[in-house]
Amino acid sequence: MTGELSPIDKAKFVAAKRAAEFVEDGMRVGLGTGSTAAWLVRCLGEMVEQDGLKILGVPTSTRTAQLAREVGIKVISLDEARWLDLTIDGADEFDADLSLIKGGGGALLQEKIVATASDQMVVIADAAKEVEHLGSFPLPIEVIPFGWQTTQALIEETLVSMDVMGRQASLRMNGSVPFVTDEGNHILDLHLGRIGNPRQLAMVINQIPGVVENGLFIDICDKVVIGYGDGRVETRDINEGTVSEDRLDFVETDNLFRDI
Ligand code: A5P
Repeated sequence: MTGELSPIDKAKFVAAKRAAEFVEDGMRVGLGTGSTAAWLVRCLGEMVEQDGLKILGVPTSTRTAQLAREVGIKVISLDEARWLDLTIDGADEFDADLSLIKGGGGALLQEKIVATASDQMVVIADAAKEVEHLGSFPLPIEVIPFGWQTTQALIEETLVSMDVMGRQASLRMNGSVPFVTDEGNHILDLHLGRIGNPRQLAMVINQIPGVVENGLFIDICDKVVIGYGDGRVETRDINEGTVSEDRLDFVETDNLFRDI
């Protein structure tokens, strides 16, 4: 069964499996959104089922909530949890400072709220997500539907004075209709090419009326767990300044791979 996994899926899986080892009994855990985070949720579900792990999960999207329930994780809301021990989530890009671009899956708002309300945020990613400068991946901006075209124009005007390569914004679509987030908003994807000063850009964009949140995560991520297709895993801790490496084996009988 595991032979059917592509190298990229193996990389995502081993990163998720390694990060799941950070989760301990009794923890309140933020559950990210996206294909890598889905592996994490499956890994935690297996630990709940097979090892009796007792955790409370706070999902960052309706689709993660559905998967978490399916695999047997007890799901609570952020307001019920109030504060979390740990959030584990994917990312679209990360740099050497562990600044991130997130929101490729459209869940950046809940993801940022949940990660910020956590003692620790761990990002799980395949090696292709690492970049020298953020910005090749279009930066998602969540905007309210009212007046979104005016908001887009204001964003594009603001970008003129920012240290970025490109300035084009596009409305994210879902087929022929605008994409709608879990909060009922739209997403503008900014094609910036290269972001010279992510911290400044994040602050300036959030000042624009109509903008709800941007997909830059600055000073939020504590660790990144990078998976490789051959089973190698590298963990970088930005606070400790440490890097560790190990290797995970694929277990053919692993029932995580059912329905994949
Ligand atoms: C979801 O909104 C995103 O922030 C995801 O975390 C990000 O897009 C990574 O997704 P993948 O793990 O599917 O690449």
